[in-house]
Amino acid sequence: MIEIEHNKSLKHLNTFGINAKASLFVSISSVNDLKEILQSDLYKQNKSLILGGGSNMLFKNDFDGLILKVDLNGIKIVEESDEYITIEVASGESWHSTVLYCVRNNWGGVENLSLIPGTSGAAPIQNIGAYGVEIKDVIKKVDGIELKSGRSISFSNDECAFGYRESIFKHEWKEKIFISSVTLTLTKKSHRLNTTYGAIQDTLKQLNIVTPTIQSVSEAVIKIRESKLPDPKVIGNAGSFFKNPSITLDHYQSLQKSYLTIPSYPSVNQEVKIPAGWLIEQCGWKGKKINEVGVHAHQALVLVNYGNGNGKEIFDLAMKIQASVKEKFNITLTAEVNIIE
Ligand code: EPU
Repeated sequence: MIEIEHNKSLKHLNTFGINAKASLFVSISSVNDLKEILQSDLYKQNKSLILGGGSNMLFKNDFDGLILKVDLNGIKIVEESDEYITIEVASGESWHSTVLYCVRNNWGGVENLSLIPGTSGAAPIQNIGAYGVEIKDVIKKVDGIELKSGRSISFSNDECAFGYRESIFKHEWKEKIFISSVTLTLTKKSHRLNTTYGAIQDTLKQLNIVTPTIQSVSEAVIKIRESKLPDPKVIGNAGSFFKNPSITLDHYQSLQKSYLTIPSYPSVNQEVKIPAGWLIEQCGWKGKKINEVGVHAHQALVLVNYGNGNGKEIFDLAMKIQASVKEKFNITLTAEVNIIE
């Protein structure tokens, strides 16, 4: 019997710690539960929202509809050779626990993605990435249930159409699928460690590590993230609020004349990617606090809720930041976080 909760507080179910309420709430712990709900009048008569770890969501208001909370669990080995292992991770498994499980087993490929909050099933939607690695580098396939028909559907890596914080699940398949599992292929030996990112090299040096391993890279990433990013259990946040924008080479060169030290990375289509954190810091926002919300003091890309802020306050702050970056640099920041109206 599936239990429906009414007027449920989402405060502990979103990492911003926003005390929004959902009029209807159900935990989905099996594909059968999901299929049953999809056929119900409750589902057909209400708007609905799939909620994973709530680590990339901003509830602007209470949610007048049905929340389907992803609670599918389990990790199983589906294929193994001397060199590779393929595992199927249920979508409700915490991503960081999955990474730690792989690191403990000495399976390589996800160590740079340590300590990213959220569930494994949400990870492919925005193609989570950090320190030179994206989840697309290890994904074999993504499985789910089409909401409309209740049928099972599978997407190969190519079919996921991954890009920077992008996938088909944010476009053609947005709000049309309940992801049930992600299947990852990892290395068992000849690991391809990625330690090119400056902060990783510096941290490995600090830890006196000359020959890095999966374990030490994971440890270094955890150390970097802990030093820059606020722990959502302590200060509410959803990681980077905005995406790093890409601008044309001409635009970049004209900005360089006024801002000699503007940081940049190559992007696609001969464009240049600029760290949004730098743009926001240049506009004077870093460390700013407005009532209960603010901009993190160590990383300007992260908006924070000091405790009792509401979604509207965070949203208004984001809009002000966006407007000042537009005015100063003529660059439009787009939110990385999903804003739930
Ligand atoms: N910077 C500043 N001021 C700031 C923040 C950043 O000047 O307040 C500049 C610095 O020049 C720094 C550069 O931005 O060298 C890059 O900063 P950082 O290494 O912290 O990375 P990021 O571009 O701000 C991205 C991801 C993070 C990911 C890191 C590490 C996005 C939107 N964010 O941040 O992902 O952990 O790289 O790879 O791409 C997330 O998506 O939630 C997230 C935390």
